[in-house]
Amino acid sequence: MISVRVPGKINIALRVGPAAGDGYHSLATVFQAVSLHERVDAEPANEIGVSVRGLHAELVPTDGRNLAVRAARLLADATGTAAGVRLRITKRVPTAGGMGGGSADGAAALVACDRLWGTGLSREELGELAAELGADVPFAIMGHTALGVGRGHLLSPVMTRGTFHWVLVLSDAGMSTPEVFREWDAHNPSPREPGPPTDLLEALVTGDARRLGRTLENDLEEASLRLRPELDQVLAAARGAGALAAIVSGSGPTVAALAADEQDARGIAARLREELSQGRLPGSRVLQLTGPAPGPRVLERIT
Ligand code: C5P
Repeated sequence: MISVRVPGKINIALRVGPAAGDGYHSLATVFQAVSLHERVDAEPANEIGVSVRGLHAELVPTDGRNLAVRAARLLADATGTAAGVRLRITKRVPTAGGMGGGSADGAAALVACDRLWGTGLSREELGELAAELGADVPFAIMGHTALGVGRGHLLSPVMTRGTFHWVLVLSDAGMSTPEVFREWDAHNPSPREPGPPTDLLEALVTGDARRLGRTLENDLEEASLRLRPELDQVLAAARGAGALAAIVSGSGPTVAALAADEQDARGIAARLREELSQGRLPGSRVLQLTGPAPGPRVLERIT
């Protein structure tokens, strides 16, 4: 059996430009992989199938729409492989949370099936297949921190120093990414092509969390807040608890708060958990994470 662990991501900068003919918007975004992982186990089988357990498992389809199944089919078609696979996803990254959970499943399935079937594709070749599965899947193959342009799929690694400490507030009710982009479109009739967030890229190189905090940005945040006004309360609570800055990740609803260091992160997480347990904070759970996290990690097991 092959097991692959792939981290979820947050978008620490997200600039949105015009939509192309295919409906996809041009982006300039910085992804950071964080220490919250999806696991995909792959075992030989006659056909391609999947089962899902863990966080929000009941929300994930197990038919041909499942990104891990689509990934396995894509790899089989691209390499002319007739083999099947039994995939088992263990979810920890929220579904429809703006953290690339489904994309991580797709990336993990590509890496796992490539190893199981012995198709021997390079990470670059897997990255090209990943782009066919979704805009965020190539980053999930890569991990660490990267600048994404185009649909977010054209990636360059970004230099960072040290470890950043994040506190995430998750929500049980996911948000539809297309719906958030439609809401953004309705209020941005003539967007311009986005340029790279240079101040944020410079802050990442210094490893200075305070400086990074001043440069976090997300063009989609306004649209997410219009659709889910209570997220404003989560942002305010994170700031009130001592975060350097807080933003909605991707299209939301996950909120990412940056802490100055590990001790601060622990304090912020404790305070937000308390507010959550008293029903004063909308959300489902609070996680203390670090970034950047490395990309896919393969574990081979003999069963
Ligand atoms: O590629 P993926 O399936 O993850 O994208 C989900 C949806 O998000 C797309 O169907 C599109 O509506 C929106 N999107 C976009 N522009 C991007 C990336 C995603 O409009 N660059």
